[in-house]
Amino acid sequence: MITIDQPSAMQAWSDAEHRRGRSVGLVPTMGFLHDGHLSLVEIARGRCDACVVSIFVNPLQFGAGEDLDRYPRDEAGDRAKLEAAGVDVLYMPAADAMYPDGFQTAVTVAEVTRGLCGDGRPTHFQGVTTVVAKLFNAVRPEVAVFGEKDYQQLATVRRMARDLDFGIDVVGGPIVRDADGLAMSSRNAYLSADERSAARVLSRSLAQARTVCADGERDAATLLSRVRAMVSAEPLVRLEYASVVDASTLRPVERVQSDALLALAAQVGKTRLIDNTLLTAA
Ligand code: PAJ
Repeated sequence: MITIDQPSAMQAWSDAEHRRGRSVGLVPTMGFLHDGHLSLVEIARGRCDACVVSIFVNPLQFGAGEDLDRYPRDEAGDRAKLEAAGVDVLYMPAADAMYPDGFQTAVTVAEVTRGLCGDGRPTHFQGVTTVVAKLFNAVRPEVAVFGEKDYQQLATVRRMARDLDFGIDVVGGPIVRDADGLAMSSRNAYLSADERSAARVLSRSLAQARTVCADGERDAATLLSRVRAMVSAEPLVRLEYASVVDASTLRPVERVQSDALLALAAQVGKTRLIDNTLLTAA
């Protein structure tokens, strides 16, 4: 595995791969890697000849008072995991290579970024699409893989790639969970033992809603009130939102008719966690 830290060097490497007829897959991350990230690497490796993983903790996507300063980092551990996973390039640009003095451009996706996490984090998705557009232009991949755990992010990047003619296939990978159901996240490292145990209520409430829906309950308000009741029984967990939305437009729906997404965000102590599940009307 080689490490590249400049956009121009990244482009040159990728152009050379393409000249040799090799396709390039990209998995963008902010590091502190876990098996959720590595599952996306597997998908990229299965679809492309070469695999690039980027690690960049992107200041643009953190709001004031969020965890940019304490975001967990483990460069040595990340490198070892990526080497073992057969990654060809670790792209790790420095902050001043990404955002040199005078940087003043942004990419905005309008509708899909409204609601859900967009309400509580109004500048977040613009930070994501701006950095992902830069990563796409540096790595020039055929395929880019994003996790369904950040479902709104995946939908937003898909929209951007289509709207701006990137010609990149944006592929989603399923949520990887710990044995107790908690969706893997770099931010789980912030949780105390008590918080970690309380946080399991999030995946449990989603699983319950999925079962109730499969048993015939299609009313979104009813499904959501069950989720809220379950979560409110955990004093360490404060629900920020729970919504049932159309899985492609992300607009709220009143009934689960075709593919719907039940998504939630919660504060567990000082840690913000998100999770979701698809609901299907059989
Ligand atoms: P990060 O939180 O590091 O996540 C990188 C990728 O891993 C994202 O596509 C995310 O959805 C995916 N991922 C995280 N946890 C997962 C899990 N448990 N199962 C499956 N996939 C999971 O998301 C970001 O970084 C940033 O916003 C980024 C896209 C890199 C832009 O800065």
